[in-house]
Amino acid sequence: MQEDGQIMGEQNSFIAQSLYERGWVVVDHYVPEPLRVALSQEKRQLLSHGEFRHAGIGKGDSFAIRPEIRSDKVFWMDESDLSQTQAAYWKLMDELRHTINQRCFLGLRSFECHFAIYPPGSFYLRHLDQFQAVKYRVVTVILYLNDDWKEDDGGALRIYLPATDGEESYTDILPESGRLVVFLSGEIPHEVLPTVRERASITGWFRDVAY
Ligand code: OGA
Ligand code: MN
Repeated sequence: MQEDGQIMGEQNSFIAQSLYERGWVVVDHYVPEPLRVALSQEKRQLLSHGEFRHAGIGKGDSFAIRPEIRSDKVFWMDESDLSQTQAAYWKLMDELRHTINQRCFLGLRSFECHFAIYPPGSFYLRHLDQFQAVKYRVVTVILYLNDDWKEDDGGALRIYLPATDGEESYTDILPESGRLVVFLSGEIPHEVLPTVRERASITGWFRDVAY
């Protein structure tokens, strides 16, 4: 456990530093293997019990289910009712949040996250993760849960990078199990390309509000 803690600490410092320097970062094998397996198993169970719902866009009055924009399904974790496995992930995210705060001074105060399933054929068009009206989502954190993902399986996360010479560029990130992607929610436009295989993840946001 001591060793796990030390590795997590180093990974978290690396993430915070990269976020500070360029606004996004990818880390492989982020969670300890037993937790990764438990999260995958829990996702499967929730799916088989019909717990996933069509995801929407927007917040409050502007919330809408728009399958022409995003066609994934989600299960929101409830901080007051976490399973043991979910609580273990939440704890890792709290530690990461603290490290980012120390290095980046973003004033991140809380976390929210959901499991997401993209059935074959589904996608999420280009967007930013901050809502137009309420901008409390500051940092996006995605953990993927898919074994042996191949380029032909589609479903890459495409992030668009700030133009240095006027031209926008992009990077495609495959949703391979254990891979963590972290980026600034208000600055990095991104999309999920149409997936061929079912694609699973835990998508979360560090927020600058306490609730
Ligand atoms: C999102 C999102 C990306 C991904 O849920 O807002 O952009 O790779 N997800 O799952
Ligand atoms: Mn997004």
